[in-house]
Amino acid sequence: MERFSFLLVLFCCFHVAFSFTHVINGEFELGPKPQDMKGTVVTGGPHSIPGWEISGFIEYIKSGQKQDDMLLVVPNGAYAVRLGNEASIKQNLKVVKGMYYSITFVVARTCAQEEKLNVSAAPDWVVLPMQTVYGGNGWDAYAWSFRADYPSVDMVFHNPGKEEDPACGPIIDSIAIQPLYPPRLTNKNVLKNGGFEEGPYVFPNTSSGVLIPPNIVDHIEHSPLPGWMVESLKAVRYIDSDHFSVPKGKRAVELIGGKESAIAQVARTIPGKTYTLFFAVGDAGNSCEGSLSVEAYVGKESVKVPYESKGKGGFKRATLKFVAVSTRTRILFLSTFYNMRSDDLASLCGPVIDDVTLISLRKPHRRFHI
Ligand SMILES: *[C@@H]1O[C@H](CO)[C@@H](O)[C@H](O)[C@H]1NC(C)=O
Ligand SMILES: *[C@@H]1O[C@H](CO)[C@@H](O)[C@H](O)[C@H]1NC(C)=O
Repeated sequence: MERFSFLLVLFCCFHVAFSFTHVINGEFELGPKPQDMKGTVVTGGPHSIPGWEISGFIEYIKSGQKQDDMLLVVPNGAYAVRLGNEASIKQNLKVVKGMYYSITFVVARTCAQEEKLNVSAAPDWVVLPMQTVYGGNGWDAYAWSFRADYPSVDMVFHNPGKEEDPACGPIIDSIAIQPLYPPRLTNKNVLKNGGFEEGPYVFPNTSSGVLIPPNIVDHIEHSPLPGWMVESLKAVRYIDSDHFSVPKGKRAVELIGGKESAIAQVARTIPGKTYTLFFAVGDAGNSCEGSLSVEAYVGKESVKVPYESKGKGGFKRATLKFVAVSTRTRILFLSTFYNMRSDDLASLCGPVIDDVTLISLRKPHRRFHI
């Protein structure tokens, strides 16, 4: 009993320590004082927005505000910030050294053709190109992950752009951080995180899913989707069962970039052994209608799984049997086609994959059946 309660205490406190990190004023609902603003431009210096240190041309934007002819509608809460040329916002975060974290942020591109955002948690950084708008309403949620090398880290969002109009630049609506727990192998699955249950933070109020951009560096531990890597050129979308139809559990992945976005994992295998890959293919219930198709590749083997979607959710199961030829086997999924939502004909969509299991088939033990 004593040992049990000791474990309980240990568990509780580790959990508290890991989940303590959060972004202050991450949805920018607390704004500058009226005397620190001129119109929408923040003029009161680096500490005008509570929780943040800002620099450069920053605008504080209220939902419903007009820019040229465009009405800016903010998905989370009522406020957002716009980063003009070379502008940045920074916040120091207390983290646990050695832990992995993912940052989810909701952004919109405004006027420039080639808007970019440099997201960093020193010494890691990524420059995200934002010319591809995935969501129909202009806003997209992205996830990025980093490893904490120190107990405190400066998280910086910087617009490296140099547009003619200083009022151009990405608008950030919300930023959240979440620790990533390394997925464990179980004796039921050779793959880690096969159900995609471990992943980045999903804002409860945004129904757009979270885009996971391709891994720029080949660091599997840096993926916001532990165990998995996003390969090729385009992002995949992380979806949750509160907003989408998900085959199993609470989370899944939607392959939205056709053959340009693939998701992969390298599994430890025993050469000569026979394995079966099981997975679910479906649609997210987001009006992604028509012929969808997922291709799974394992070494030289592959299978194409067609799925006729009515856009209302649903899935089917598929398998791929193979004999391992190496101690490391790469499993890869991609979408055969590019698909568009039938309701807006503008946003990318695609087949959903979930519940990916890889198991080795044991030879039946004859002697027990005599
Ligand atoms: C999220 O939605 C709920 C219910 O609509 C609302 O009460 C809450 O204020 C929203 N939160 C944000 C940050 O927008
Ligand atoms: C992105 O920001 C980080 C941290 O501020 C910086 O070290 C890095 O050089 C920047 N990358 C680019 C391409 O500007």
